[in-house]
Amino acid sequence: MNGMDKKSSDWDEKPGVTRRRFLGTTLVTGAALFARGSDVIFGAESSAPPDIATNPTWTLGGDLTVNRLGFGAMRITGEGIWGWPTDRANALKVLKRAVELGVDLIDTADAYGPETSELLIAEALYPYPKGLVIATKGGLTRPGPAQWVPDGTPQHLKQAVDASLKRLRLERIDVYQFHRIDPKVPMEESLGAIKEMKDAGKIRYVGLSNVEPEEIERARKIVPIVSVQNRYNIEDRGSENALTYCEKNGLGFLPWFPIGGTRGLKSNNALNTVAKAHGVSVFQVALAWLLERSPVMLPIPGTSSLTHLEENVAAAKLKLAPEEWNAINALASKQES
Ligand SMILES: NC(=O)c1ccc[n+]([C@@H]2O[C@H](COP(=O)([O-])OP(=O)(O)OC[C@H]3O[C@@H](n4cnc5c(N)ncnc54)[C@H](OP(=O)(O)O)[C@@H]3O)[C@@H](O)[C@H]2O)c1
Repeated sequence: MNGMDKKSSDWDEKPGVTRRRFLGTTLVTGAALFARGSDVIFGAESSAPPDIATNPTWTLGGDLTVNRLGFGAMRITGEGIWGWPTDRANALKVLKRAVELGVDLIDTADAYGPETSELLIAEALYPYPKGLVIATKGGLTRPGPAQWVPDGTPQHLKQAVDASLKRLRLERIDVYQFHRIDPKVPMEESLGAIKEMKDAGKIRYVGLSNVEPEEIERARKIVPIVSVQNRYNIEDRGSENALTYCEKNGLGFLPWFPIGGTRGLKSNNALNTVAKAHGVSVFQVALAWLLERSPVMLPIPGTSSLTHLEENVAAAKLKLAPEEWNAINALASKQES
């Protein structure tokens, strides 16, 4: 099989308990410690490069500080990102557990469901805990299952902001991301409408999604931009230029498909070797790689599973030796070429 089957488990491996392996096998515990604000895991002598340990957070727009490992709320909806999930109680549990584990950045969109992702977030988490940042999106509509149609008209976007505010039970959206540029509408017009909503106090900060550096540059002439959300993972680095732009200009970068989406990731490579050595999954190593790749990186892995959620959050604590990082980086460079 070429891709790693996400339903299969790498957790069956029970490696011997060396110190580093101990850290690997206690990742879920590490997440719980993190949720309580403990530095037990961070404080331990570490063979990992300093970035993850010293920079577990990113500040959006100068005052919204979030843990860099966020949660993508697209997978809590029904099959095909359509309608309500079959197990609605589980979706609510996943959202609540994410927050318990220390996640304070939740990515969503009016298009997820449509509407159901935002509604579930409010149902599970309202009144919201202090510091929770909900980053929603608008500008992509769902006229039917499997249909994603951009609508960047000012009229649609203004109405979409109001509708998201209502569903999320918010007076102001912390981060409103323009989901996708509508080829039929000049970006300046779409962002002009979003700026109007920001000026009206309905949006705190604006983000972009699915954009090239030139488009980010153009957008920033219309309204300040705090983040960019593009497809990016260890095997798919087509947005490397956008990431570099974000690094240079102090914008957060939210990689979507951080662990390859439903397709997964290839398993016959350094990722798998490192994962096995630590008794973790390749997805956890891939998330750790993203966090290590750049201090502006805010991965938003999506899941409908409590177990996967715990694994994903725990990936932020994965400690790897320099030679392991080198092997994974070499793999990433190979994927890029
Ligand atoms: N801006 C955009 O255009 C755009 C596009 C797509 C997505 N997004 C955002 O990005 C977020 C992440 O993208 P994504 O959810 O499509 O892709 P992803 O996070 O790369 O992968 C999600 C898939 O991986 C599975 N999974 C998650 N954790 C796992 C684990 N630890 N072990 C094994 N399988 C695991 C999930 O299934 P289970 O439910 O079974 O865990 C799901 O099928 C979305 O939730 C959404 O918020 C944005």
